[in-house]
Amino acid sequence: MITTFASMKGGTGKTTITGLLANYVSKVLNKRVIIIDIDPQGGCTTLFLGSEAREIIDGKSTPTIFNVLETVRDNQNARSIVQKALVKSPYNENVFILPADYRVTSLMSMGETPELLKYGLNDAGFAPDLLVMIDSGTSPFLVNMSIAAVTNQVFVPLMLSVQNRKPTADTIQLILRQRKQLGGLIPVGIGSAKWEENSMESWKERLKSTPLLANSPVLKGLPYSKTLIHSEWVNQPFPERFLPIFENIARHVLSENSQEKNVEDTTSDEKTQ
Ligand SMILES: Nc1ncnc2c1ncn2[C@@H]1O[C@H](COP(=O)(O)OP(=O)(O)OP(=O)(O)O)[C@@H](O)[C@H]1O
Ligand SMILES: [Mg+2]
Repeated sequence: MITTFASMKGGTGKTTITGLLANYVSKVLNKRVIIIDIDPQGGCTTLFLGSEAREIIDGKSTPTIFNVLETVRDNQNARSIVQKALVKSPYNENVFILPADYRVTSLMSMGETPELLKYGLNDAGFAPDLLVMIDSGTSPFLVNMSIAAVTNQVFVPLMLSVQNRKPTADTIQLILRQRKQLGGLIPVGIGSAKWEENSMESWKERLKSTPLLANSPVLKGLPYSKTLIHSEWVNQPFPERFLPIFENIARHVLSENSQEKNVEDTTSDEKTQ
């Protein structure tokens, strides 16, 4: 039911992939999508809510992910606060955002557990036909929180530079420690250089030789593209040249989701109907 794109390295493409996949699944496959933005920087919130986003992320407007987590921490059911917090994107009527909040970071210093989000999303009881995605921040606590909440698998965007090897390996460790599956690595910003091909091969080898990761693929990568840098795609028709890449990512994400037969459909509220 719930998929996350997580990486402890900043700027690797979590928000871009989450956003493009939301558009692919809603515009091409006609499914409804919910994005849970737990990154205090609010990349997805800003992307999909535009000018509304700033006040919300600053905690000065409608409820946010922080209010949801606070409700869970106070041992109350979070279902109605989740419904109140969801905002429909003005650019895409099938995409709903559970907005980010700069205050989530403070939960770490309060000694809260990464499980808060899991309990909150259980309370929410989203309909099983919705694709729910989490955009994590980069702090180990928030990455862990988003991984802990995922029903099955986590996808890790991968920029191929040498500096990214360690944070990527650390993220994979967190996934395994939470007993989740690595859904796959998604190379981002790739060109046609030989070193990139070698780097992807070496990641494939590394996964294959690790028993718990042997079934985790390196998916078709997202090429370097100037269109992506300025988020110009968000309110446009889905970019044609990315169709095969997202067809592939969506297949991996949705095939796992469809195995979730036990998810209760308790949603009756109009926003997620
Ligand atoms: N394939 C690509 N080609 C060129 N630029 C890209 C590509 N993918 C992402 N970018 C750009 O790289 C930057 C970082 O991407 P993005 O914001 O998606 O990463 P992130 O992992 O969400 O970062 P953060 O950790 O800050 O939330 C953005 O400016 C984005 O537009
Ligand atoms: Mg981001």
